[in-house]
Amino acid sequence: MNNITAQILSRLARENNFLSGEMLCREFGITRSAVWKHIDLLRAEGYQIDAVTGKGYCLSGMTGRAVAGEVLPFLTCHRFGKMINYHTITTSTNLLAKALAVEGKPEGYVVVADSQSGGKGRMGRTWLSPPAVNLYFSLILRPAVPSIRVPQLTLLVAVAIHQALMEVAPDLAAMIKWPNDIMVNEKKLCGVLCEMQSEPELTHFVVVGIGINVNQSEMPPELTKSATSLLMERGELFSRPELLALVLNHFEPLYDEWLQQNDLGFILHYLEQYSLLQSKRVSIDQRKQHLSGTVTGIAKGGELTLLCADGQTILVSSGEAHLSNNDE
Ligand code: BTN
Repeated sequence: MNNITAQILSRLARENNFLSGEMLCREFGITRSAVWKHIDLLRAEGYQIDAVTGKGYCLSGMTGRAVAGEVLPFLTCHRFGKMINYHTITTSTNLLAKALAVEGKPEGYVVVADSQSGGKGRMGRTWLSPPAVNLYFSLILRPAVPSIRVPQLTLLVAVAIHQALMEVAPDLAAMIKWPNDIMVNEKKLCGVLCEMQSEPELTHFVVVGIGINVNQSEMPPELTKSATSLLMERGELFSRPELLALVLNHFEPLYDEWLQQNDLGFILHYLEQYSLLQSKRVSIDQRKQHLSGTVTGIAKGGELTLLCADGQTILVSSGEAHLSNNDE
């Protein structure tokens, strides 16, 4: 969908009533026949648009896909999501966003797919990405910070996603699982995969990939114990375009604050309040070693603070955390 078509869709969605063809011509600086063409394009994409002589056009049916025109009416942030590159299917939005970042696409640029044929998770895992139900998107960032600070972005975006979820489902028992998951009842609802291109002192770009299980009605047998969706938790459907916009709305101000600060100090309270691992006994798998202990908090640099059996407190900066049996 081209940019003007998306903007016309967004304008019709915001109006929520009839909007005259003349008004659209004036607002977008286009002719009557150009307006018709855009309306035809939208109808061909599945939008129901009523046309009544003397009244104009009224959008009576959305598709629920996270295309620009459906996301824009919910966007309140200033830079993120102004450009949304939507695909019915792609291999991985992270892969595509990385290629586009190399080409020079600006900070705030978003790649969205309705499904992914090679969705990527952390540690080389795959991210199941069936069509028409969930959110899969990647945001390009160009933070002027040394690359060592970049892993903090994963926690920052987890906070933004958590806040967005609280807005659409206030009583959802969503918890942040360091470093990159949002869990509900100990099942995964959402994952974040940040990838960057950098030199030690210079970050060229970061791609923040977000997968949220939104309207998936059931999980395949191998995931029933470990994954869930908003629909499965709340028993209702959620708007994917709205949720995507809310994540960006929450993330942009957090990101701006983070750029001003040297660390995550300003959101530690939130992180610890909703940390699934707080005060829990955990084991942590790292590439070369295995750690265990009790989580005492999250440090300003984004590391997990772990009290080990020998009484030492260590900072853990990466790895996969598993809850140990905390009932004993
Ligand atoms: C994880 O928890 O392992 C991270 C999962 C990240 C999945 C998202 S879906 C959108 C983006 N594109 C990808 O290929 N992966 C991320």
